[in-house]
Formats: sequence, structure tokens, C-alpha cells
Amino acid sequence: MISLCCLCGLASGTVVANEAPQVANVLARHITSLNGIWHYIVDVQEEGYYDYRMKPMRGGFFINAKPQRPEDLIEYDFDKAPTMQVPGDWNTQDERLFFYEGTVWFKRSFDWKPNGDHRILLYFGAVNYDAHVYVNGKFAGHHVGGFTPFNYDVTDLLKEGENFVILKVDNKRHAEAVPTQIFDWWNYGGITRDVLLIDVAPVYVENYRLDLAGKEVDKRGTRPVAFNVKLNQAEAGRLVTLDIPELKMHQVVTTDADGTASITFKAKKLQLWSPENPKLYQVEIRLGDEVIKDEIGFRTIETRGKQLLLNGQPIFLKGISIHEEKPNGGGRANSTEDAHTLLSWAKELGCNFVRLAHYPHNEYAVREAERMGILVWSEIPVYWTIAWINPDTYNNAERQLTDMIRRDQNRANVIIWSIANETPHSPERDQFLSRLAKHARSLDGTRLISMAMEVTSASNYKNRLQDNMHEYVDVVSFNQYIGWYRDVNDAAKMSWEVPYDKPVIVSEFGGGAKFGLHGAKNQRWTEEFQENLYRENVAMLDKIDGLAGTSPWILKDFRSPRRVLNGVQDYYNRKGLFSDSGEKKKAFYVLKEWYEKK
Ligand code: GCU
Repeated sequence: MISLCCLCGLASGTVVANEAPQVANVLARHITSLNGIWHYIVDVQEEGYYDYRMKPMRGGFFINAKPQRPEDLIEYDFDKAPTMQVPGDWNTQDERLFFYEGTVWFKRSFDWKPNGDHRILLYFGAVNYDAHVYVNGKFAGHHVGGFTPFNYDVTDLLKEGENFVILKVDNKRHAEAVPTQIFDWWNYGGITRDVLLIDVAPVYVENYRLDLAGKEVDKRGTRPVAFNVKLNQAEAGRLVTLDIPELKMHQVVTTDADGTASITFKAKKLQLWSPENPKLYQVEIRLGDEVIKDEIGFRTIETRGKQLLLNGQPIFLKGISIHEEKPNGGGRANSTEDAHTLLSWAKELGCNFVRLAHYPHNEYAVREAERMGILVWSEIPVYWTIAWINPDTYNNAERQLTDMIRRDQNRANVIIWSIANETPHSPERDQFLSRLAKHARSLDGTRLISMAMEVTSASNYKNRLQDNMHEYVDVVSFNQYIGWYRDVNDAAKMSWEVPYDKPVIVSEFGGGAKFGLHGAKNQRWTEEFQENLYRENVAMLDKIDGLAGTSPWILKDFRSPRRVLNGVQDYYNRKGLFSDSGEKKKAFYVLKEWYEKK
């Protein structure tokens, strides 16, 4: 059955573009930015899409129709519509859209002229949540998933001179979506990351991977490095060169019949990437006259029993969880500047690790963390009560996992792929998640797989981790809210049972406080309450055998529609160590002191 979107598309005589596999390292390509001012139309009943009325099926808003005769009836006009900044969520750019969940149309025009036989890919860093893309009134593609990139080859839809792109963006929540219709963060809708035109030759480097091919160092101090490259076409005999000038490394590979090539070579005196020395090498990859520049770090990450080893040395992950929200006042973060501020706060806390919750953050944030020497846990939003038996839901989750790994597989600081957060136990859930874990390993055998499990409390003082998924992950992580959702808060009496010979990360703990509210330490919502909770919790964590790290919940207060207590929450989750205006609460100093001693 052809879906309605294609009907709408086909009705306007489209040439359907093809969804090209995600292009690696887009910022290093020949790009034209379509960021900036876009017109938008709020379309609550999706009138511009399901145009039921008795007008000839001339397609919906996406054809950007204009009256040709005085009597023509066209009931929309993008050029007269308001504008907003892209990238950016609509919730914080138009107060009428603060809580809005539904469809908004976006349009902008751009000039283009052909560049020989080159192709043009239209790239989106992310659009939350469901996007239909049209170029010059023709359907280019439909993408679902709010936090991962996608791109279409739109060359055949373009014309010399002025063109226009229109998106139908719908952020409505659904039980079979990923995430589902319930989640504890703001449902920021819109074109929340970069929009770029990428100019590529007909055959281009689509994806590549450069990292250590093992952890051994031979007696001359050289290490094995692996380089894998994939073209967008199955073309044999194409020469791809790899240069690492600082290492005086020059390699040439020839693609085979499926357009891929790989090589392993020895690199001398490689400085490994680490939080103390976040060493990145300038790398240049060439195919024909196309040069792709990247900055790549080399390191090993592995587990040995309950130890986490970075470059062969045990490491304790002094972390903090972060939502992708601007440092001040909310809204989707989407720039290096946003990331630098948030990550600087984490550094001030003494962190060498961040859990980017609960979805893949923007590429600028991961790269900024890499430059700052901060290790990363990256996660897909398989969160709470997912529709485990729905095949579309699984495919959506797997697609988001694939795109997350594809985008960041060359980032040395990313050490953990997380496939879920706090998912209720069931055979269907285990089947779904174990499939995801295997898929992640098939794409990337070098990084660690984890997920945020839930500890079961045998009694208020006995805590046991019991989860079938322990055999599919490398690191057993769990969230616990002793002192907040459980009203015991006496570290001295707590005991822990984590019966798995794997490193343990406490991926969440914490409690809320309204910045500036003070009182007795048993007075909920005071800074003293949160401070005491942190004191008890860090004392308790010291008793967990095999604890390899923690990422307390959370760096900064963040917006959530579930947190409605007037005068205290006001639609913010107040578990931040920083307020939503970037002010430090007293608990900040408890964690900072604990990390200093670690
Ligand atoms: C949960 C969940 C978070 C949520 C937090 C809270 O563990 O993972 O997304 O925000 O607890 O209740 O504040």
C-alpha cells in the first residue's frame, strides 16, 4: 500500500530523490549552509498535507502555490508567514509554540547552479521528530527520529537559479515511536540542527574509519592502525590516499568491487588520546580532487573483570549526565559555544566523562568534548515503555543506533554506546535489546556496550542488580534514587549486590533542589536536602564493589512537562547541580570534593 505521503508527493508529479546513506564528516565537505531565517506556518490540523477539500489535488503546502489569476483561491503564503532561526526549536522562538506538539511547515529559498556532473545532497543534522522533505514542490524523502542526521541526493529536483525547500515537521508523540509518548524532557520540535547542501563528485567517500587495530605495541614502539573507507558507489580501482602529516604517514588504497578498501599499517611514536592529553592528529583523505580533513585521536578502551582500562590503564569515570539544552533558559543546544559552556561546567566539577542523555547529542558537542579531553557515553532514546513487539519500533531504534555509530565512530572520546534507559523487564524487551546490542557490535567492535538498568531493592537497605541483559553488555550500569524516590538515605546501612564480573557504572543518582531555597537537610527542595543526599550517596557509592564510574543526574536543571510543582519546578526538573540560569547549588561542591579524592 503506497503511503499517503507518497500519494501527496506523487500527486505533484514528483521525482522522488533517494535517501543517500549518511555522509561522514559533513563539515569537511564542500558545503553551503541553509541555516538562518526560515518562514514557518503552524498547521494544527495538517491542512497543508491532507488537503481534503474539493480543490483539484494540486498537492499541499509543499508546492508553495501562488495565485495565478485574481479568482484563484490559495489559503497559505509562506512569504507572508513569520520567520524563525534554523537550527532552533520552535518552542523557545515563538511563545505560542512553547507547549505545541503537532505540525509546523518550514520554507526557505536558495540559489543553485550546476557544477558539472556533481551531485547535491541535502543534509539535516536532526529534525524532531517526523520530517517530510520537499524540494521545488517535489517529495525528497520522509525521515523519522529526532536526534540523528540524514541526507537526500536532491540533484534531480534542482534547477539553475532559485530553488526552495519545504519541510513538514511533526513532533507529536506516539506509543510506538522512539522515544514513546512519555519521557522526562521537553519535546522540542523543529529543525533543531544544521541544514546543509553538500556538493560531491558522482563518486565520493561516503564513510571511513581510522583507529587503532589493537592494543599491542611492538618493541620499536609502533602500533597497528586500521583505515577503512567506503565509497558511495560500488566502484573498483579507485585510489584513496590517507595522510597523517605529523606522523609522516602516507598510505594509498585501491577500492575493490564493492567500493570499499582497507589497510592496516604500523604507526611510530603514536601519542594516545586521553583526558590528560587529548591528542588529535590532522588527517587528510583524498579521492580525486576531493580532500576530507579530520582530527582523529587514537586510544584503546577495554574491560578486565571489573576494571575499565583506557590505554591499558585502569580509569574511574568521574562523570555527570547532561541533556542537550542551552546553558541558560532552555532550548535545544546546537553549537560548539553551547557545548563549551556546559562541558566547562563539567570540567569545573572535576569530570573526565559525560553521559549525553538520553539521545545522540549534536556533533559539535561530541567534538568539543573530544578536544577538551572528556570521555562520552552516547545513547539512543530507547527509554522506558517502548513498544517491544512492534517491528517498526525496532527498525526505528536500530536505524537511530546505526546513525549514531556511523556519525561518531571516529571520535576517540566516545567509549560507550548505550542502547536503553530504565526499560521494564520482559522477554520481549530482552529480545529487542539483545538484538540492538548485537547490531551495535556488528557496526563497532571496539567500543563498550551498556544501558542504564534499574536496581531492585530487596529491602530498603539491600540493593541487588538483576537483569538478563547483563550478558549482552560490557559494562553493567544502573540508575538509583536512594534519598529521592526512596526515602531512605543512610549510606552506612546500604549493601549492594552486583553479581556480574564486569565494571559497574552508576549512571544516575541525585535529587532536586530549587536554587536559593534553603532550610533543614530533611526539607525537600532545599539546597541543603540535595547537598545531604549527595553526601550520603557518594559515601554509599564507595561501598560498591567494582564501581568504575558514575554520571549523577544531572549537570543542569532542564525543562520537563512532567515537573509542574508551581514555585519550585515550574516545568523544570530541578535535579541539576546548576540552576537553569547556570548558578551552582551546594551539592556541586560535595561531588567536586569527592571527585578530587578519587
Ligand atoms: C530517571 C530517568 C531520567 C529522569 C530522572 C528523574 O531515572 O532516567 O530521564 O529525568 O530519572 O526522575 O529526574
